[in-house]
Amino acid sequence: MADTIRKVVFPVAGLGTRFLPATKASPKEMLPVVDRPLIQYAVEEAVAAGADTLVFITGRTKRAIEDHFDKAYELEVELEAKGKHAMLELVRNTVPDGVNCIYIRQGEALGLGHAVLCAQPVVGREPFGVILADDLIDGGDDPVLSQMVRQHRAHGCSILGVERVPQSETEKYGVVSGSDFGPRLSQLDGIVEKPSPDQAPSNLAVVGRYILTPAIFDLLAKTKPDSRGEIQLTDAIAALLEYERILAHEFEGRRYDCGSKLGYLKATLEYGLRHPELGEEFAAYLRERGAA
Ligand code: UTP
Repeated sequence: MADTIRKVVFPVAGLGTRFLPATKASPKEMLPVVDRPLIQYAVEEAVAAGADTLVFITGRTKRAIEDHFDKAYELEVELEAKGKHAMLELVRNTVPDGVNCIYIRQGEALGLGHAVLCAQPVVGREPFGVILADDLIDGGDDPVLSQMVRQHRAHGCSILGVERVPQSETEKYGVVSGSDFGPRLSQLDGIVEKPSPDQAPSNLAVVGRYILTPAIFDLLAKTKPDSRGEIQLTDAIAALLEYERILAHEFEGRRYDCGSKLGYLKATLEYGLRHPELGEEFAAYLRERGAA
């Protein structure tokens, strides 16, 4: 029986070029959806799935994320003095007690595969999760990583979070091919990075959730950079297929691609509409504009 997933890796060292200049001095994972940065949604998903060690792979704009999950002494003292207890709780609870945050610097943005490889000294030889915070996924009462941890426990192998995308969009994703393995599950027999629609083996795209066995590290270390000089996680997963079974899990939930401006706006709209404090007012505003 496979262990539970204790360690989750958050690669947050990308350049975030699609959001410049917002991402000039702060990572895109710090962009807020209503009142919480994307990375906080991701951390909450990891903790809900049972993680107690959060490994952030940071880049040149690392300070903001460390500060967000760190104690904010001056702010806490000031809120306390002003009797703003509810806000104080929000500031204190960015990470629950008993959960450790570890920061590793990826010196150069050499690709997602390289970022994951940077986590090896902390992860060691156990299966681990990877969350790309810019894929915000609303799984309702059953967050996506929790769904995937259950699959990992049942089958003891690497699990990729996948979603059906329009065939015309395969070029934006890693795309898998495989055979039916059960409800919402397929067993991989191939994976390719960003295939053109006519070359794509299917329309099942890998989105920002992975549970990986530690064998991936040895393969990442051997993976050659692609034509853009990036080490692709997809290539190492393709190599892993030669040694281990890998399952693709079609998660239940709604994904927002917050790495793109349109996806980010959609997320802001949906999370705004259901926000307990401003949802109603926001909906009224949209009705007034003839937009909802
Ligand atoms: P993206 O492909 O979205 O790239 O990275 P990006 O640089 O963040 O954004 P754009 O395309 O320039 O706007 C996917 C994920 O991998 C991380 C990113 O932070 C993001 O979560 N990443 C990517 C790294 O941590 N390091 C890298 O070298 C590349």
